[in-house]
Amino acid sequence: MMTDCHSHILPEMDDGSDSIEMSCSMLELLRQQGVERSIATPHFYRHREKSVAAYLEKRQRQFAKLKAANPAVQNIFLGAEVAIEKGLSDTPDIEKLAIQGTDLILLELPYAPYQEWMEEEIDNIAITYRLTPVIAHVHRYLNWYNREQTAHLLQLDAVLQINIEAFQSFSQKRIAKEVIKRELPFLFGSDCHNLTDRKPNFEILQKKVRPEIIEKSNRLLECHMQ
Ligand SMILES: [Fe+2]
Repeated sequence: MMTDCHSHILPEMDDGSDSIEMSCSMLELLRQQGVERSIATPHFYRHREKSVAAYLEKRQRQFAKLKAANPAVQNIFLGAEVAIEKGLSDTPDIEKLAIQGTDLILLELPYAPYQEWMEEEIDNIAITYRLTPVIAHVHRYLNWYNREQTAHLLQLDAVLQINIEAFQSFSQKRIAKEVIKRELPFLFGSDCHNLTDRKPNFEILQKKVRPEIIEKSNRLLECHMQ
């Protein structure tokens, strides 16, 4: 089942969809592109949210609104794109941000030079809560990491998430291709935010990689379903 593992399709949760109408149009576009299942991953920034519980309540509310407006909305799994910050692993209920029905948690690294505490936070989350970290758009940190640090990132005990747009960038494509070639665990996502500059783009993925490669991403997700 072709799955979009990273998306901002829930209305008015973050800088993604800004209305129920936009969410419905994004989902329709994904459907036309052959996507049968989406994981909604609204941003979670610890320093901005009152608590995980408050975030989850809002996420549930926005999801309910979307479902009420469009009963055809199905096969949406709820998750979060959790920004790594110092102390994140000590946040109460952090494990509840894992992708619904899986042991996967999508983690976004800071857009800043690599520092050891980032990896400590990732490890703490994995070990303390027995979760599998997923490094969001692993190819997007190139501006901040040197070659060695990028190589290290690929060696973490984690699933690597690839945004489809990586295949359209000369430098980022190299990382995406390396992950696939080395058979590292990966998940594809559109990271769609809207209907314009960051719209659903699975039609591009289908042009850039073979169907069996897309299937690997779908299968990996299924392996992590509990
Ligand atoms: Fe995202």
